Amino acid sequence: MYSHDPSFWRAGAIATTVFMSIVLAALTIDTLRQISPGGPRVPSYSVINRAVTYEYDQQRGEYVPKIGGEELIFDHKYTPQEAAALIARGKLVIQSRACIDCHTFFGNGAYYAPDLTRAWVDPMWARYPARKRSDRLAKFLMDPLRLGARAMPNLHIGREEAEAVVAYLKWISSVDTNGFPDRFGAPAAQ
Ligand code: HEC
Repeated sequence: MYSHDPSFWRAGAIATTVFMSIVLAALTIDTLRQISPGGPRVPSYSVINRAVTYEYDQQRGEYVPKIGGEELIFDHKYTPQEAAALIARGKLVIQSRACIDCHTFFGNGAYYAPDLTRAWVDPMWARYPARKRSDRLAKFLMDPLRLGARAMPNLHIGREEAEAVVAYLKWISSVDTNGFPDRFGAPAAQ
């Protein structure tokens, strides 16, 4: 059954456009909710005061970040405002030194050096308790020592900048990324 009446097709086009615009608006609102700090997938900045681990979820069949009880970095409990300011600064340090020339965050960047999405829970650092880990990571950023096959350059990062980067790295490691990077930190992936 084929209609030659143009108004039939026009009405169809208009109805489809209106319907898909509503779907797009709904998806956009849902995406903003999912990616905003404090939303279902992105914990609020104060998560830097809590334990963050990466554990296998049997039901989902993938590794997911788990938020635990209080676990401070740099022996400091950050207020929500302090945490937001620190993480914003960490992001600026990361942008100013162009870490993505070598590293990836959430898969974006270069593949010369490790993906940093889960750096905080990287078994290499996770063997240290949070207080020691935050300090070791900050010292590494200020004066990188060679850990593997390639060396990280000294980017002249100051202590406060390094602490801000560590806070940023801890926060992003708590983001639920549907199991990306796959099997990160799993014994078989070592
Ligand atoms: C010129 C390339 C380069 C740049 C730029 C760079 N890195 Fe690295 N980074 C490396 C390499 C290579 C390693 C691996 C070092 C090793 O294994 O000895 C590394 C290792 C690391 C590690 C430890 C690895 C891990 O999985 O935890 C962290 C954390 C890190 N970099 C953070 C940063 C941050 C933050 C920046 C920006 C401020 C940055 N890097 C900029 C090359 C780079």
